[in-house]
Amino acid sequence: MFIVFEGGDGAGKSTQAALLAGALQQLGHTVLCTREPGGTPVGEKLRTLVLEHGQGEIDARCETLIFAAARAAHATQVIRPALARGELVISDRYVDSSVAYQGGGRALGERRVRDLNEWATNGLWPDLTVLLDVAPADGRDRRTAAAAAEDRLESEPDDFHRNIRRVFLDLAAAAPEQYLVLGARAPIDELATRIQARVRALLP
Ligand code: TYD
Repeated sequence: MFIVFEGGDGAGKSTQAALLAGALQQLGHTVLCTREPGGTPVGEKLRTLVLEHGQGEIDARCETLIFAAARAAHATQVIRPALARGELVISDRYVDSSVAYQGGGRALGERRVRDLNEWATNGLWPDLTVLLDVAPADGRDRRTAAAAAEDRLESEPDDFHRNIRRVFLDLAAAAPEQYLVLGARAPIDELATRIQARVRALLP
């Protein structure tokens, strides 16, 4: 089974991904936890290139292709082999991030970005996507509280992040059986319980 966490910056995806991985391991499953952009040597290099400030100009199409290139390596080298070994794969971000950030945020078109990524991943789609829905202002507050430096995408204005939020919610609304949408403001343990319940229901 392939599970993806999605949501705006500061939604708490990494925390919930780690909690779910721990819970599934306790149930005896072998879990591979990974993230995007990254997850492979070439993907981590592309991550630095696309997220760090000061790499020179990266226009929207170039940015989209870098994320897609990192994802192609991730799908082929990491996710498919793990699924073939019968492992549970949990990824912090996947195709929907590109559809939301590049398709919506950068206004390149959601359908086009989706199609590009269908090609890049050779049609590998998650079984379940957990969308942690966060208001842009809340996300920003959380990032400030974490005192982490903002990357190229995070430092875009709130309007950009509002657009992204809308695309994520539209994607989930269009395929409700493939998504679990939760408000990121809920307490961490409550979110974790609800995510585990949904995933357990899907397990054989
Ligand atoms: P993330 O790893 O969630 O950030 P952090 O290291 O702060 O936890 O994601 C990095 C940024 O990349 C985030 O702002 C979203 C952006 N992104 C895209 O724009 N498109 C994509 O396809 C992906 C995977 C991420």
